[in-house]
Amino acid sequence: MPMPLVLILDPPPMPLPDLEAAELGAGFDIELVPLNASHQVSTATLARADAIINFRGRHKIGEREVNAMTKAQLLVQAGVGYNHIDIDACARRGLAVCNTPDYGTMEVADHALALTLNLVRGISTYNARLLTRDDAWSTDQLAIRPVRRLRDLTFGVVGLGRIGIAAAQRARAFSLDVAFYDPHLPPGVELSLGLHRHDTLRGLLAASDIVSLHCPLTTATTKLIDHAAVAAMKPDAVLINTARGPIIDLDALEAGLRTDRIAAAGLDVLPVEPMERSHPLIKAWTAREPWLEGRLTITPHAAFYTPQSLDDMRRLSARAVADRLSRGKLRSLVNGEELRRYGFGAP
Ligand code: NAI
Repeated sequence: MPMPLVLILDPPPMPLPDLEAAELGAGFDIELVPLNASHQVSTATLARADAIINFRGRHKIGEREVNAMTKAQLLVQAGVGYNHIDIDACARRGLAVCNTPDYGTMEVADHALALTLNLVRGISTYNARLLTRDDAWSTDQLAIRPVRRLRDLTFGVVGLGRIGIAAAQRARAFSLDVAFYDPHLPPGVELSLGLHRHDTLRGLLAASDIVSLHCPLTTATTKLIDHAAVAAMKPDAVLINTARGPIIDLDALEAGLRTDRIAAAGLDVLPVEPMERSHPLIKAWTAREPWLEGRLTITPHAAFYTPQSLDDMRRLSARAVADRLSRGKLRSLVNGEELRRYGFGAP
């Protein structure tokens, strides 16, 4: 009797799937499947799997891939965002999709605050000036646009989920006033958390000095921050994105920064990753154009990353497989609504 096969697609660097094996226990075969040069996986490989763990979002898991998963009982996305997976196509053939939302909540919240503090305290800019200018050790050279007293500012959270709440708590510890916009939370959450709630995005944007995005990427949130949203922000506002790149229209952000409609941005994610250096905003940043000095910080979709969070991501993905295949339980199902719609009961 062959053992159930667990495929690990696009795995992070690991000599052996040791953490996965420990979590799954005996009785499973595990195979690491790197992507091919065109960032795809063969359908014949997918057809052999009883469960699939996918790392990263570098390849689409669309209808073609899903239809090939004829034997699989579960698809696990290692991490939080699953916008690259056609969860509807999975549900049509009764395939449950789970994620691991609890691996890097603290890291991403820390990163959102790190980007905020970096810009509002001018850290990278002082450092860059000191590297090249002898006159930079002088109060005459200190003016950096977004630098302001934190206690006077409002930190506005878009999407008060796990990471949004963790970011809100951290912002409060720095004496910032915290507000949020999240249309999906029940009335009263603002009272239990003691935060100021806005019923419209426009309201939050107009009231916030720092706007930090923590919502998922969906059709509703694609280009949520467009020209109108940038125009609704305060002229000294700082925009932070550790969620997903396409939530911001990069052209709108560029126009907002270039025309001084907003002060600064901290981006861990971009609409196209790795970054497109030909985009006018990235081009100006790469060329260190003076108008952008101190006003844009970019990190390479690294908010989630610590060695510890990566280990947690691996363990929790394997646990989701063990829960399903050994214990008949689903851990963090993301397509329950779609499965019910296609008559697959309430898993
Ligand atoms: P979560 O599901 O706990 O929270 C998301 C919140 O956004 C929910 O409260 C939801 O009601 C809210 N929301 C949904 N649509 C909204 C809308 N139109 N406007 C405002 N709020 C809306 O998710 P979690 O764990 O907090 O993660 C948030 C996002 O962070 C993920 O979707 C993922 O894309 C991103 N992320 C980024 C990482 C990175 O390395 N940069 C790592 C991990 C997650």
